[in-house]
Amino acid sequence: MNQSSKGLAGVIVDETKISKVIPESSELLYRGYLVSELVEKCSFEEVVYLLWEGEIPTEKQLENFKKQERKKRPLLDRDVIQILEKLQSAHPMDSIRTLISYWASRGYAWDSNTKERKQKALRFLAAAPVFIAAHFRLRNKLQPISPDNKLSFSENFLKMCFGEIPSQDIVRIFDKTMVLYAEHGFNASTFSARVIASTTSDVGSAITGAIGALKGPLHGGANERVMEMMKEINNPKKAESYILKLLLKKEKIMGFGHRVYRKQDSRVPSMESCARSLSQIKQESKWMEIYDNLVSVMKREKNIYPNVDLPAGPVYYLMGFDIDMFTPFFVMSRIAGWSTHIIEQGENNRIIRPLSNYTGYERRLLSK
Ligand SMILES: CC(C)(COP(=O)(O)OP(=O)(O)OC[C@H]1O[C@@H](n2cnc3c(N)ncnc32)[C@H](O)[C@@H]1OP(=O)(O)O)[C@@H](O)C(=O)NCCC(=O)NCCS
Repeated sequence: MNQSSKGLAGVIVDETKISKVIPESSELLYRGYLVSELVEKCSFEEVVYLLWEGEIPTEKQLENFKKQERKKRPLLDRDVIQILEKLQSAHPMDSIRTLISYWASRGYAWDSNTKERKQKALRFLAAAPVFIAAHFRLRNKLQPISPDNKLSFSENFLKMCFGEIPSQDIVRIFDKTMVLYAEHGFNASTFSARVIASTTSDVGSAITGAIGALKGPLHGGANERVMEMMKEINNPKKAESYILKLLLKKEKIMGFGHRVYRKQDSRVPSMESCARSLSQIKQESKWMEIYDNLVSVMKREKNIYPNVDLPAGPVYYLMGFDIDMFTPFFVMSRIAGWSTHIIEQGENNRIIRPLSNYTGYERRLLSK
């Protein structure tokens, strides 16, 4: 029997040119550029272009790309609204997974080359914010708002949610979170997307599957659990006893730990600085006090560091979003990374089909 690796830990399954996680220095590169630099100097649209095309766009390329994205933002027609109305009581991750699948079925079922896959990826990138914002408004008994093609990706999304564009500081912070969530190597949802793409299935199927994988609390769903936990703690002085109790029960603390990083998650300093800025803007320090206490107790007790979802929770909460909308924001951004991987898989494909060690019965006789 060959040694198996539970959870594929440490297994290298393929090559990629898209992003590199460097655990030793807690760094992350998109196409060779440090994400900690991209987040300060580039918009989300520039980063999507970088992921898809491999280079930072020139001004003209960026303008053209933005125009294409804006043209693909869907109008909220009767069919979409009817589906959204039926999904009002669903978890927003179930709603976006269903709508992406529906949106895929409204286009051509197949794609067979990079050009077709990029066109489809753009369609899903442009559609996801429209569907997520409409779901947010309908469940809050508000009329959905159509996309505004004069606005950037993040401005448009925030306007479709709140009816107006918040201050530029807040728009910028939201846009930074999109950059930080865009791509992260062979994580569970990206790998799911690549497995589906490797069967030469279509982009829509691969993204739908990836959304299902992202929903889990051990992956993207952690950002919602983080905020639920912080709300349960509610008082910074209670953070320590809360954590100690969970650790005693050997429970996992949401927003901590990572398969690849053993120390700092490369994205935490940038996401944390977004959360601190927002605390100041909103003049609400409680959540970051709880955050600081959680980080120091986990470091002292387990030597385990926070991951990107710990500061992301308070960022989105302070912006005024419902907690169960947080993972769909991750979807909006990660569609960029997933689709880049789907395209890369398609360009040098071999079906992904691993083996397992069989530990069941050996051959036995049927007694009838
Ligand atoms: C991310 C995660 C799934 C990685 O899992 P993994 O690579 O399989 O890590 P392991 O479960 O092997 O963890 C190694 C050790 O650290 C402990 N550990 C890891 N994350 C922990 C956490 N969040 N809280 C408490 N203990 C944790 C494990 O219990 C294990 O301890 P042990 O060796 O005494 O059994 C895991 O850290 C986790 O569940 N974190 C919480 C969910 C989360 O925030 N997910 C978002 C990830 S970006």
